[in-house]
Amino acid sequence: MGDSLARLFAGYREGYALPGAVYKDPEIYELEIRHILLESWLYVGHQSLIPERGDYFLTALAGESVIVIRDGQGAIHALLNVCRHRGSRICDAETGREARLTCRYHGWTYGLDGSLKAAARTPEGFDRSKWGLKRLHVAVLGGMIFVNFAESPPDFSEMAREMGPPLAPYGLAGAKVALRRNYPIASNWKLAVENYCECYHCQPAHPEYSVAHGRALPRADCEAELAEVMAKAPAVGLTQHAVNRSWLHARHFGLEYSFDRYPLFRGHQTGSRDGQPVAPLLGTLTGYDGGTTDLHLGPLSFGLAYCDYVVLYRFAPRGQRQTDCEITWLVNGTAVEGRDYRLADLTWLWDVTTLADKTIIERNQAGVDSRYYEPGPLSTSMEPFTQQFLLWYVAAMRRVTGGGLPGRRPVASIRKAAEGGST
Ligand code: FES
Ligand SMILES: [Fe+2]
Repeated sequence: MGDSLARLFAGYREGYALPGAVYKDPEIYELEIRHILLESWLYVGHQSLIPERGDYFLTALAGESVIVIRDGQGAIHALLNVCRHRGSRICDAETGREARLTCRYHGWTYGLDGSLKAAARTPEGFDRSKWGLKRLHVAVLGGMIFVNFAESPPDFSEMAREMGPPLAPYGLAGAKVALRRNYPIASNWKLAVENYCECYHCQPAHPEYSVAHGRALPRADCEAELAEVMAKAPAVGLTQHAVNRSWLHARHFGLEYSFDRYPLFRGHQTGSRDGQPVAPLLGTLTGYDGGTTDLHLGPLSFGLAYCDYVVLYRFAPRGQRQTDCEITWLVNGTAVEGRDYRLADLTWLWDVTTLADKTIIERNQAGVDSRYYEPGPLSTSMEPFTQQFLLWYVAAMRRVTGGGLPGRRPVASIRKAAEGGST
């Protein structure tokens, strides 16, 4: 690892955007994947996608494919989609139901927990128990499934303990996926995250959102409205929690999260075209308090919790300039499409907003690719969360490139199914 990378990150100027190299240097990309993303708890999907034994979905990150599958006891496993014989992919379909996982190359067959059950004509002394699929740590919070590729990830129960109570009224464990859709973005993953973390662009880019969401203004400009929302919250069954373990506020690298409420304007009750509800109330909620909740769920995931639906974002790099923006819309698990909600109404706001984001993020990538791009100053009132992300990222990269910041030891190995239970 060259000194030049250490110098690049050591030279980051607080209050400014990142240098162009971080969006195009393949060595930096590989370091980010190995030492940041594979070390972090990552949201991958909601448990209602896999209600029955053998149900699975695939999730992809930077060339890795993971099978997220439910076994006969109801436990969820995250298995690397790489056969232990000669490395073939095992599952191809994005979702499915399997009694066993059979590699179609030479027929090695694995159980739903990844353990190797059958392998024909193997050498004498072959010990099946040592050749289970590699698996990741798994944790579930409010029905949301998180995985971690690291050998010894930070203790997820800290996040569950802090985020569980504020999320509880939304009843997300009993929610269901109304729609899960990918909006691929031709950009580096950091540009997508930087964009999500600020609402400086909301007035020009998102008129549909800005008309009703307090986040489109500096925080100081909506304190009175927020106080009103917080005062109303208990009457509709919401708590008055605020949690901030985002970025450098995290107790452990790899365990970033927050829960942060803000007001809706003009009488809007939810994020919809006319501000009226688009689905039945979630969980134990009994009404609308005129607010919404920003969620931060690991370095690549964010969301909004309205009283009638939740929208979750997952930005996952597929390559240096290719990022999945996968959105999940969650509604009350008892709601029936057509009767209780219409997909077109439910998804209108975040579909139109995400399409606009895709355009501006791709234009941002084109600009930072210029030989003449140079990092400009951030807005202190409208980009503080993006600034926190950049400081967190630079601190991690200083550690990785030898710039001397203390941090956890990077480890990127994965456990084999045969060698221990899931978390
Ligand atoms: S690669 Fe899977 S059985 Fe040979
Ligand atoms: Fe946006």
